Amino acid sequence: MDWNAIASSKGNSILSSTNTNDTNIKNSSENNNSINSNNIENIPNIPKILDSNNNDDDNDNNNKESKIENTNEHNFQKNCRFSWNSTDEQIFSEDEKTIIAVGHSCVKSVVPLELLRYVYLPTKPHNRLLDSNTMTIFYLHQKSFLPVKSLSQKEKKRILVTGGAGFVGSHLVDRLMLMGHEVIVLDNFFTGRKNNVSHWMNHPNFELIRHDVVDPFLIEVDQIYHLACPASPPHYQYNPIKTVKTSVMGTINMLGLAKRVKARFLLTSTSEVYGDPEEHPQAETYWGHVNPIGPRACYDEGKRVAETLTYSYMHQDDVDVRVARIFNTFGPRMNENDGRVVSNFIMQALKGEDLTIYGDGSQTRSFQYVHDLVDGLILLMNKDYTEPINLGNPDEYTIREFAELIRNEVNCSCNIKTLPAPTDDPKKRKPDITRAEQILGWKPRWPVKQGIGETVKYFQIQMEADLL
Ligand SMILES: NC(=O)c1ccc[n+]([C@@H]2O[C@H](COP(=O)([O-])OP(=O)(O)OC[C@H]3O[C@@H](n4cnc5c(N)ncnc54)[C@H](O)[C@@H]3O)[C@@H](O)[C@H]2O)c1
Repeated sequence: MDWNAIASSKGNSILSSTNTNDTNIKNSSENNNSINSNNIENIPNIPKILDSNNNDDDNDNNNKESKIENTNEHNFQKNCRFSWNSTDEQIFSEDEKTIIAVGHSCVKSVVPLELLRYVYLPTKPHNRLLDSNTMTIFYLHQKSFLPVKSLSQKEKKRILVTGGAGFVGSHLVDRLMLMGHEVIVLDNFFTGRKNNVSHWMNHPNFELIRHDVVDPFLIEVDQIYHLACPASPPHYQYNPIKTVKTSVMGTINMLGLAKRVKARFLLTSTSEVYGDPEEHPQAETYWGHVNPIGPRACYDEGKRVAETLTYSYMHQDDVDVRVARIFNTFGPRMNENDGRVVSNFIMQALKGEDLTIYGDGSQTRSFQYVHDLVDGLILLMNKDYTEPINLGNPDEYTIREFAELIRNEVNCSCNIKTLPAPTDDPKKRKPDITRAEQILGWKPRWPVKQGIGETVKYFQIQMEADLL
């Protein structure tokens, strides 16, 4: 199968994929599906896949390599040689230096990075045109979608993603959509944005529902990824009672749904359940060191109760559960105002302001890139393992080192200044990922520097488009 294949119906072409055989990146030039470029000539803002011979007959083009050109000036691969059936070895380019795909073939989550980058790093926003003279925004009708994998009815799952319009959720949604599943996003848009998933609106496999998980919700689904919860301190401390309600009542509602429809349930818990840890690095067996009455307690204790509820539903009602303990994650679509260290530093550096460190900067954090996290979540959902699993990058940086890394990446000459540390700020945090390695066959692939490069680019694009 090769996504060079295109189903181009007259007048309204859609990039799609069809199953053929076990081709892979290296031999995909043997694919027999090529494209009638005439049919996709007029579609704005999607990667164009051009048949090198401009031949209208799709089926007679054996041994012909297709070429991709991007109408949105995006640096799309000129020679597309990717197959949905690629193996994990083909995640990297032939010289092993560049990541060209994400995912794991054992759970069929491999997709070309360039497809994903197309939606989170467009050189121009796909559906929005700003006339800066009159300060008028034109919203354009989106006619076409990225190609999604063709799955049989049996393989295709109905997947609910709560909090799917948020930072992590929207990347998970992109991946599940490209993998060919039916995805329903439930979000109250407290911290999430419609824009994060607007490129899938009206897609036959996609639904977006405004709903607060604190209220019950009924739907027939096979899997539930439960992410709905503000994740950054300023957001979860804005209304701590609501944060506790979201964690507790929201999780009860989603577990009740999972029980009722026999769906598999995955909770996105957090490294915050370890609090200010006395054990370093933190393994899943560590019970944590949390202040139950401090300003972070609404989030930390909320997630601890969410875990307790998850395992209570498992033991009492046989609900099939998974728990991911997520460590600091960063990437495109982070909220620029969320007070998290990566977005803070990048925004300050891009504006040429001083980078602010809270405390003396010697506290350490480990940062994982969002694609690694999405890989881990999908692996966990699809493996037969119910204990909590840490997902994080054990590469440890001091906050000061991190500020310097971002300063260099943005190439700014700004200073680093220090302010007092906030209450209960953990001094060190580093995941022990032995369990994830052994059970899931997962470990982070993205070097922090490479992830920072993409994230800086994302914020630059947003600033240039006047979206920040
Ligand atoms: N990003 C990280 O570093 C990190 C680390 C540990 C855990 N997590 C967990 O991962 C999940 C996603 O985090 P994120 O970084 O994408 O945060 P985010 O704030 O970007 O996304 C959370 C999403 O949940 C939605 N939401 C919040 N309350 C809701 C409610 N009551 N009903 C419906 N929707 C609601 C928000 O609108 C948003 O779209 C969270 O559960 C968070 O606790 C994230």
